[in-house]
Amino acid sequence: MQVLVTGGAGYIGSHTVVELINAGHQVIIVDDLSNAKASVVDRIQIITGVRPQFYQLDCCSSELINVFRLNKVDAVIHFAAFKAVGESVQKPLEYYRNNINSTLMLLEAMEAGGCKNLVFSSSATVYGPNNPHPYKEDMPAIQSSSPYGWTKVMIERILTDYVAVHPDFCAVLLRYFNPIGAHDSALLGDDPNGIPNNLMPYIGRVAAGKLDHLTIFGGDYETPDGTCLRDYIHVVDLAVGHVKALEYAQHNRGVEAINLGAGVGVSVLDLVKTFERVNGITLPYIIGPRRSGDLPAFWADAEKAKKLLNWQAVHTLDDMCISAWKYAQNESNY
Ligand code: NAD
Ligand code: WQD
Repeated sequence: MQVLVTGGAGYIGSHTVVELINAGHQVIIVDDLSNAKASVVDRIQIITGVRPQFYQLDCCSSELINVFRLNKVDAVIHFAAFKAVGESVQKPLEYYRNNINSTLMLLEAMEAGGCKNLVFSSSATVYGPNNPHPYKEDMPAIQSSSPYGWTKVMIERILTDYVAVHPDFCAVLLRYFNPIGAHDSALLGDDPNGIPNNLMPYIGRVAAGKLDHLTIFGGDYETPDGTCLRDYIHVVDLAVGHVKALEYAQHNRGVEAINLGAGVGVSVLDLVKTFERVNGITLPYIIGPRRSGDLPAFWADAEKAKKLLNWQAVHTLDDMCISAWKYAQNESNY
């Protein structure tokens, strides 16, 4: 299949492009490089031996339609979005504009190009604060706690409404839990600009001596060790999940929400201790106050992905910590 990957130069997108190429698909990347480097495309070529087509283009632009005019696109994976939760609270209009407009433009361009298969990057954040864990796809997923999260809720709604009147369309809504880790080559990984907000890139920079210490946000939650529980999933497992979702979209119609998680809750302290053990280093950390908006614990019910996609996470927490550290040590990544 010829697959258009929006946001394909980003963290999850780049790993997915590698797995798509490995599975024999042709890939076209559209990315405006607002949160990625052009060198990622070179790195994908080094890893796979194949250079994907690359358009540096904002998906909100009307030029997106030209990509469909110039290429026969069989399916789209839509990663392109702004994703920083805290920043979205400060800049709600930018988040709503970018995440929602890019999706609307994409749907119009897909319609013009006759493309009817879409895999969308959703998030566990759509389950909101009120559902019990583990989260199951049939629970209400209509709430979030940040403008970023609301864009995911709204886009899921938009896609559901669109499919209701286009029954020949397939939209797979992949709800990711907490992707971490990096490609084994240490050429692709999570490389946020500035000081990281997410746990693993922060740990990587502390381990590399670029940041002083980690602050664990809260040690007094009602969890076994007092720190929050999350469902960490290796980014390569997540990438493989997209290839499976694409195959699913080829043979099914309608809209389907599917969790991509490992299905287990891991505490912040578990992750820190694992990182230290497998990499043989000591991570300086302190326990600080809770971060506003954090939920104490959530993880995925991962059964639906197993059943519909024949997919489950195979990498261990050890693998995630080893690959993340290998990537963080590769100076050429910064
Ligand atoms: P990322 O920022 O690394 O990748 C997103 C890519 O999209 C970047 O390369 C950026 O340059 C590009 N982009 C942004 N807006 C664009 C636009 N208008 N036009 C073209 N390109 C644009 O983020 P990621 O972690 O790889 O996340 C990918 C997707 O997965 C996002 O939609 C994100 O919301 C979603 N998601 C991420 C996580 C996570 O923890 N990383 C969890 C759940 C969902
Ligand atoms: C993980 C755990 C923190 C940093 C976010 C989004 C979510 C999804 C994934 C996109 C939490 C703790 C963190 C630090 C810490 N993204 N932590 N010290 O908040 O679970 O999820 O990314 O859809 O929508 O909200 O991920 O990596 O920020 O935090 O103690 O310096 O690590 O409190 O328990 P989070 P995270």
